[in-house]
Amino acid sequence: MKFVFVLLSFFFSVNVCAEALPHLHIQPETLDMGTVKEGEEAMGTLLIRNNSDTVVTITDIQASCGCTAVEPKSKLLAPGAFTELDVRIDSTVKQGDVTKWIRITDSAGHVAKAILKLNVIENPHLVREGRGLFDGKCASCHFDPVQGKTMGKEIYNAACVMCHGEGGKGAYAPALNGYEDEIALQHLISHGTGTPQMPGFANEEGGPLTQKQVLTLSKWLLSLD
Ligand code: HEC
Ligand code: HEC
Repeated sequence: MKFVFVLLSFFFSVNVCAEALPHLHIQPETLDMGTVKEGEEAMGTLLIRNNSDTVVTITDIQASCGCTAVEPKSKLLAPGAFTELDVRIDSTVKQGDVTKWIRITDSAGHVAKAILKLNVIENPHLVREGRGLFDGKCASCHFDPVQGKTMGKEIYNAACVMCHGEGGKGAYAPALNGYEDEIALQHLISHGTGTPQMPGFANEEGGPLTQKQVLTLSKWLLSLD
């Protein structure tokens, strides 16, 4: 609550130059959601202000990962008005410093963006059953999209790119473009590395990939520079 109050006073102090700002303004631009134990939910509140002189409707809110839920208190904003935006991040399978973004679009097509940061620490009491990357609400993005894909790049872009980055160049997870040992690579893809972030992706391990997809994918990865 104190945090909201500080923000409010900030808004009133910058009110004079409000005309120069974009229509929707999110504060803060980077929200530090603190430290949570894996599996716990991180929560925070952003303020969205309408800096224009017309009524603005929020038409779309997007978050980078489906583990992030965003709920505005109101979607209709009078000139100068603001609303609170509650943000929740499910930290299941996350570790260390995590960065997410949310993007808000208004009826005139203007876009405002904010960065969310949190730190996820180990949770020794976490009961992991049914709470992995391939289960429940995570499956729609981390399991289902790769079903039926036959080309190496397609398979990669449906199952791996979100962690290992475009073209295997590395992102949240390490780069995959330096591999030479095909058998070792297939083994890692099929059976994982033993961490919840990198579980076995083969059907026999509860993952989304058929044996054929594992072979095609590893061949494609080996062909990368
Ligand atoms: C709507 C699609 C969608 C859903 C649902 C979804 N994810 Fe993701 N996930 C993504 C995308 C896209 C990325 C990469 C971009 C990003 O960092 O948000 C990602 C990234 C990740 C990462 C990499 C680390 C990180 O957060 O950047 C982990 C771990 C992860 N997701 C786990 C999960 C878990 C566990 C669930 C279920 C609780 C889940 N995801 C649900 C789309 C989704
Ligand atoms: C949710 C994020 C996530 C997804 C999706 C994911 N990985 Fe990983 N992967 C990781 C992380 C994190 C590591 C390194 C640390 C670890 O083992 O947990 C890793 C490690 C690896 C390694 C071993 C790398 C090394 O140098 O030790 C390989 C190979 C690999 N992943 C391949 C893949 C392939 C291929 C896919 C798609 C089928 C994939 N991964 C999907 C997160 C992910």
